Amino acid sequence: MIKFKRLKGSDSNYLLIFKGKKVGGVKLTHCVYGIMLGSVHIRKNYRGRGFGDLLMKFALDKARFIKEESIKVSGPDYTPPDKVFLDVKKRNYRAINLYCKYGFQISYDTAIASIPSRQLAKKKTVTMPELWQMERPL
Ligand SMILES: CC(C)(COP(=O)(O)OP(=O)(O)OC[C@H]1O[C@@H](n2cnc3c(N)ncnc32)[C@H](O)[C@@H]1OP(=O)(O)O)[C@@H](O)C(=O)NCCC(=O)NCCS
Repeated sequence: MIKFKRLKGSDSNYLLIFKGKKVGGVKLTHCVYGIMLGSVHIRKNYRGRGFGDLLMKFALDKARFIKEESIKVSGPDYTPPDKVFLDVKKRNYRAINLYCKYGFQISYDTAIASIPSRQLAKKKTVTMPELWQMERPL
């Protein structure tokens, strides 16, 4: 009844299918900083029914799998990814709650960290995205 399927033509986007319908999805990207989660979403009509939990459990299992596979094909000097991370809007309480439930913590305030130092030096007013980066160990 519930299954996860890789999106056709993509090697990193996964769909959550319930009774043959697309209910949500998530994207996993293996990069130098770890494994990044993106496009975490559950369609409106299906929210609040536990699908977000399923999606997050799937994403974390998949991230562990990606880590193990990357170790298998790498040499002795390889440093495997040691964290899962993502960006979230600061007012997105539902998503932040979900991420906290699965052990994510705020690691980085993009609004502060991404202001170029020369702009700070000139005391210019800059509009920055209201995002937090959150992460958890893998
Ligand atoms: C965030 C999102 C994925 C959660 O999916 P969901 O199917 O509604 O979540 P679930 O019903 O499985 O609930 C899982 C957890 O999410 C959190 N949560 C869900 N709905 C919530 C709400 N209305 N208020 C606060 N926390 C909420 C809770 O931690 C909940 O666990 P709990 O029931 O034990 O308290 C979904 O709301 C969504 O797709 N939002 C729009 C897209 C989005 O914001 N994506 C994140 C981008 S970073």
